[in-house]
Amino acid sequence: MAQTVFAPWEDSQEKPLIEFVNVTKRFGDFTAIDNLSQKIYAREFFALLGPSGCGKTTMMRMLAGFETPSEGKILLAGQDIGAVPPNKRAVNMMFQSYALFPHLSVWDNIAFGLKREGMAKDKIAARVDEMLRLTRLEKFARRKPHQISGGQRQRVALARSLAKAPKLLLLDEPLGALDKKLRQETQFELMDIQESTGTTFVIVTHDQEEAMTVASRVAVMDHGRIVQVATPDVIYEAPNSVYVADFIGDVNLISGKASTRKAAPASQSKPAPQPAKPAEPTSPSPSDERRPQPNAMGEWLHDRVLEPVLGKRDPNTPAPIVEQVTAAEPQPVSAPPEIPAGGLAITWSPDHPPLIASNASETFGGADVVLALRPEKLNISTTKPDAPNVLRGKVIDIAYLGNISTYHVQLDNGTMVKAQIANTRRVSRRQITWEDEVWLSFTTTAGVVLEQGT
Ligand SMILES: Nc1ncnc2c1ncn2[C@@H]1O[C@H](COP(=O)(O)OP(=O)(O)OP(=O)(O)O)[C@@H](O)[C@H]1O
Ligand SMILES: [Mg+2]
Repeated sequence: MAQTVFAPWEDSQEKPLIEFVNVTKRFGDFTAIDNLSQKIYAREFFALLGPSGCGKTTMMRMLAGFETPSEGKILLAGQDIGAVPPNKRAVNMMFQSYALFPHLSVWDNIAFGLKREGMAKDKIAARVDEMLRLTRLEKFARRKPHQISGGQRQRVALARSLAKAPKLLLLDEPLGALDKKLRQETQFELMDIQESTGTTFVIVTHDQEEAMTVASRVAVMDHGRIVQVATPDVIYEAPNSVYVADFIGDVNLISGKASTRKAAPASQSKPAPQPAKPAEPTSPSPSDERRPQPNAMGEWLHDRVLEPVLGKRDPNTPAPIVEQVTAAEPQPVSAPPEIPAGGLAITWSPDHPPLIASNASETFGGADVVLALRPEKLNISTTKPDAPNVLRGKVIDIAYLGNISTYHVQLDNGTMVKAQIANTRRVSRRQITWEDEVWLSFTTTAGVVLEQGT
């Protein structure tokens, strides 16, 4: 069966389950949520990420009905929920384990809300048993909260929040009390439960890895606003600002001035409009003169053969310059590879060559930019590699993390850069060690170019 990608946010016909419409929340004269609009779709696992105090809990509390927006409105399935009290909303908020009733058994904790609702006894029993099965707690039904582990208590809290089959479950730091391993296990359980019940989850977490693991989309917040909302891979690989790049994962941020990498002006690369005119230093033999010169070959080919198909050649289209192409002799290994013009050159230090980013928009030309480079996108070697971007430095520190090692390299101009290498083999002998002179290299598409100050 073909797997369909879950991406309701890409379908303009899809109706959101939740919609924040220009919501502002003020406490006195402090603005906690600032004119925020956002749609969240049914069956999403939506993660809110952001520094402490940015407004995550406030967003949740407004959804649950514990706070009302100062301005704007919140729609649930198309209905303005402003006037609906918390207990009448199809929304539940999962509290931390301490919110379990200590004197009640696991079974009774889960049944509590259903009893309050006045549900029939047999229905309650069936529902509680179903929740116990779902959260794999059958064995612990008769125990009290203090007789089970922290992870199990978290699952009881989850079972209790799910028992009333809310449309929307809000999880504010639900796994905060768990150790890393249990936390990871519980994340997968959460995902399974979310999928099998079809509930929409909104989760707040301080743990980026957790957000990346569980979420269909991640919203990165700053000062009461959402800065970027996207799938975890897009947030990581294509952050829209320096703020997001820096907030999510590890990153090297190199500031510089961008210039567009156009071909050399026509007068330099090709003195005469006629392609047959050879360049001075490498005059070809007279018999060669009739043939298009290498630097003009592309233009000649375009004008003679491709123009009917591709249209007129853009005079700015990069054409290889004479010196580059006529250097037919084998090049020394360490010579920088030729990179076709286009993208940006980022001048950032008098001690290092400009960095080249071929994936960047030329609209950045002339702007102050930041090249955001994830450490795992850098290579490290002891000999100068044949790569478009090469930086020389010295290893200052190595963090061995088992599966990966992070090298902290100080460049010639003092900048510290991190490079991460996967440890695919057992470490018997370190090839690169402290104080080693090394070369860091990366491709022209390894980084993301962002506007400074974003
Ligand atoms: N009842 C309140 N009265 C006054 N200020 C409040 C109130 N509730 C929240 N705030 C303020 O609003 C801002 C956002 O708070 P919120 O609890 O939403 O942050 P958060 O993103 O959840 O932070 P954390 O990650 O630390 O939990 C904070 O500066 C907080 O001090
Ligand atoms: Mg909070």
